[in-house]
Amino acid sequence: MLVAENVMKFDAIEPTQGIFNFTKADTLMDYAEANNMKVRGHALLWHSQVPNWVSALPYSEREAALQNHIDKILTRYRGKIHSWDVVNEVIKNDGSGLRNDNETPGTSDYSVWADTPTDDSLIKEAFYRANAVDPNARLFINDYSIEVMGTSKADALYNKIAGWVSQGVPIDGVGFQSHFLQSPAPNITGIRNNIQRYVALGLEVQFTEVDIRINTPADASELASQAEIYGDLIQIVLDYSNVDTFLVWGVTDKYSWIPDFFSGQGAALLFDEAYAPKPAYNTLKNKLQ
Ligand code: XIL
Repeated sequence: MLVAENVMKFDAIEPTQGIFNFTKADTLMDYAEANNMKVRGHALLWHSQVPNWVSALPYSEREAALQNHIDKILTRYRGKIHSWDVVNEVIKNDGSGLRNDNETPGTSDYSVWADTPTDDSLIKEAFYRANAVDPNARLFINDYSIEVMGTSKADALYNKIAGWVSQGVPIDGVGFQSHFLQSPAPNITGIRNNIQRYVALGLEVQFTEVDIRINTPADASELASQAEIYGDLIQIVLDYSNVDTFLVWGVTDKYSWIPDFFSGQGAALLFDEAYAPKPAYNTLKNKLQ
């Protein structure tokens, strides 16, 4: 399965209002088709990588812009996307509501897609619209630091989603981005408990952007403990029928986003900078065999 790291984001697809650039996304779709691969769509409503023209719109005009954006993309790729990240990273990092445009621009709490911490109207609209245009795509909300039950952001997201499910919002599942650290390792029991409560809501869970970063340079024991964590995560996929998807956020450490965003860290993926398979790769292979 492929996912576009950047080329299906809002600023890449619609850099100018009403002018769509599908060239790079089409290349990825064609590659997937030629190689019999599924595709995850990423991402429709997100506070980041939004073009300036959207940010400049008054709030009242953003709904129509979002609708048109979703209509054009989902129509073009209708029937070809396995799952869409319809909504990405809408919960504030401290779990106190939705990112919104009353926060300070440039801070992580700011988003053009809500007007207050409780205003979820555009978020729900994104799901309804996506469902109307491509009813066969599985529709996801995706986020980070929401994987472990009992942490404030995870519980805030769960409560939001439970509310939407009871209102009938067409949402199929939750993407656990899973940008983890090798140390301290993620709480695997807490992740399993979280999945269990999404099962109870009738939802799927996908691991959507897995990488497990290490302070660089990584030594052999760190790579071994990283491999163990990858193994614990793939075991979850093997154990739960509502978890069937596991994507890593990149192929080789040579082209990972981690060193650019977390200084002093890296070595997070399955292949090293020379494309040699790492212990984590062998652990996943053994588990899947
Ligand atoms: C990252 C890309 O990997 C980088 O190339 C880009 O500069 C910024 O975005 N959560 C997400 C992804 O949902 O879209 C982000 O991807 C990583 C965090």
